[in-house]
Amino acid sequence: MGKLHQSGIIATGSYVPDKVITNQDLEKIVDTSDEWIVTRTGIRERRIAEADMATSDLATKAAQAALESSNLIAKDLDMIIVATVTPDMNFPSTACLVQRNIGAVNAAAFDLEAACSGFLYGLAVASQFIATGVYRNIMVIGAECLSRFVNWQDRNTCVLFGDGAGAVILSRVEDGYGFLSQILGADGNGASLLTLEAGGSRKPASVETIEKQMHYIHMDGSEVFKFAVRIMASMAEAAVKNAGLTEKDVDYLIPHQANIRIIEAARKRLDLPEDKVYINLDRYGNMSAASIPVALDEAVRLGRIKKNDNIVLVGFGGGLTWAACTIKWAV
Ligand code: UT7
Repeated sequence: MGKLHQSGIIATGSYVPDKVITNQDLEKIVDTSDEWIVTRTGIRERRIAEADMATSDLATKAAQAALESSNLIAKDLDMIIVATVTPDMNFPSTACLVQRNIGAVNAAAFDLEAACSGFLYGLAVASQFIATGVYRNIMVIGAECLSRFVNWQDRNTCVLFGDGAGAVILSRVEDGYGFLSQILGADGNGASLLTLEAGGSRKPASVETIEKQMHYIHMDGSEVFKFAVRIMASMAEAAVKNAGLTEKDVDYLIPHQANIRIIEAARKRLDLPEDKVYINLDRYGNMSAASIPVALDEAVRLGRIKKNDNIVLVGFGGGLTWAACTIKWAV
């Protein structure tokens, strides 16, 4: 194998549906209150896809936005990875649908599932192909239509999630830029804490699975919460250390947007001021694999992230899974 190349993000894009569901709207359908949701989670509203839109449609719009912010065209893409737990269907992959929609005729395409950590897993996979020189330009998308899989009668989950998509393009960057560290992890012993049980090979769709509401998201919120507080803080810290940096070198933290109290734990561990952490969960809720790339795109477009900044991305999710990376922003 020849020389390894440095890989980094050269463009970002995102899309969220127009339709807003506020906490006040939810008060009318389940026994909850704006006050409970805001104080326990930090969420005020979320976006919900129109009935005729599925995950690939949200992903396609994010992909087009990322391409527009780059100097590439769809034919330049060598690979498309879509991280999602809410694919349009079991197969074909959502990535193949996006590939068709944007006309990326030269791209390999596949989906990757690591729940809310999926986008960061996708970045890690994509960057290996760039580093080895196998591919030049890879699009990684995090996209979710979670509104189709939440039980709108279950206040434990329906207040938490939203729909959206974010996309990035990875290419070679100058030495010293791009990914400085990457961490991936999983603990399958926690598999039962966050599930959508039916519709797979163990429990195919049946009258019984529908009656038992097994096609919805089920979560042991407080156990996931305890795991998340511990893992977000420790992985953010490890990502910085593995990059050969210290906390004071960190310019910006983009955490998975599940709960403001979990984000605060990571922020405090890195000793960062509030204005160095991007938060959009108040507007979008938890968009699973889409949360980090949507937040990243918004931060880039707002000028919060500039060339030479050291950015830490960190997330956790079902599986259980977790992931983090440090990036020296290259563009
Ligand atoms: O992306 C990765 C996936 N998920 C997460 O990161 C979620 C992690 N977990 C959490 O964010 C929090 O655990 C929740 C926000 C889900 C829950 O907050 P909590 O402070 O852990 O509350 P809890 O689960 O301990 O519930 C406290 C009470 C319960 O009532 P009782 O049993 O004490 O009477 C719940 O029934 O709050 C009740 N509750 C609600 N009340 C009003 C739960 N959901 C609601 C609600 N509105 N929407």
